[in-house]
Amino acid sequence: MPEPMNSPTNQVYPVIWHNDSVSLIDQTRLPNEYAFVEIHRCEDMATAIKTMIVRGAPAIGVAAAYGMYLGAREIETSDRHEFLERLDKVAQLLRSTRPTAVNLFWAISRMLKTAYESVGNVEEIKQILLQTALAINSEDLQTCRAIGDNGLKVLPDTREKLTILTHCNAGALATAGYGTALGVVRSAWREGRLARVFADETRPRLQGAKLTAWECVQEGIPVTVITDSMAAHCMKQGFIDAVVVGADRIAANGDTANKIGTYSLALVSKAHNIPFFVAAPLSTVDFELPDGSKIPIEERHPAEIYQIGDTILTPSAVEFYNPAFDVTPAELITAIITESGAFGPGELKKYREKQVI
Ligand code: MRU
Repeated sequence: MPEPMNSPTNQVYPVIWHNDSVSLIDQTRLPNEYAFVEIHRCEDMATAIKTMIVRGAPAIGVAAAYGMYLGAREIETSDRHEFLERLDKVAQLLRSTRPTAVNLFWAISRMLKTAYESVGNVEEIKQILLQTALAINSEDLQTCRAIGDNGLKVLPDTREKLTILTHCNAGALATAGYGTALGVVRSAWREGRLARVFADETRPRLQGAKLTAWECVQEGIPVTVITDSMAAHCMKQGFIDAVVVGADRIAANGDTANKIGTYSLALVSKAHNIPFFVAAPLSTVDFELPDGSKIPIEERHPAEIYQIGDTILTPSAVEFYNPAFDVTPAELITAIITESGAFGPGELKKYREKQVI
């Protein structure tokens, strides 16, 4: 396996602009293979998002921003009106890839708005779009570092070194780098406040077992992988001091969509009086939705449930239901940790009214 490091600081960057194309870490091949896929065309970026070569809410936002530039680059016209019309089609294609993570839609809207508001000719607009995608990429990295550091302010001080349970992968791989939930973990590790991470394996796609565990190993953070059904037992045993998860979309009242299994984790955290934190950038908050009931939940192919490798796990003629996300009600969330601080779920709206975000 090639060295996982792609910077002198030993950081993992899942989406990199380089040599006039986008390099994506192929997350479907981790942890056994560390390989990159080169993306030159918008259509290939759409496929990479759909097939989860790149995944995680902020990372697919960054990938979609580059996808918008790649799509813009393919448009051969000097007519501004025609260019913008065709750019709308590029946006439609990218929007159709995955429905739940709002960061995807946020990044595409920001790219479109930039194009519409640019006064230059078509070639100039294309260059501005590339600069905007690069900015979205580097802003996300800064945002994750701020989330990590803000997390330190709200983690419990019940023990000198904490054990944190996380679900899915909300790490460097799921963002521009550093991570949201794993950003908090990384900051706690750096400050000597972390003993260990418990990573839920996260059925059916196993992002916890494959990706979170891999990231922790790269960084030398002690990690214990458990199956999702073991979380309550581990809490009862007193192994867990706090739960920190990421988010795909947060409604204005704080209801939070995240990887399937997050809701049950929040319920068992409540039952054991363990703080339950959501770590996410403010771009994950969808203020258009008053609560979580209207968050679109992606359903994925049943093979993710009934098949592992070449092995079929279930009898034929059964039915499947494979929602990729669930919604955790705001009242189960201790705080939402963002780049601008940690908020009680009900405080998000008030914060927005005071600031323009
Ligand atoms: O289906 P995935 O792997 O894209 O789901 C990822 C998650 O649910 C993450 O927890 C979420 O996107 C936050 S990533 C910082």
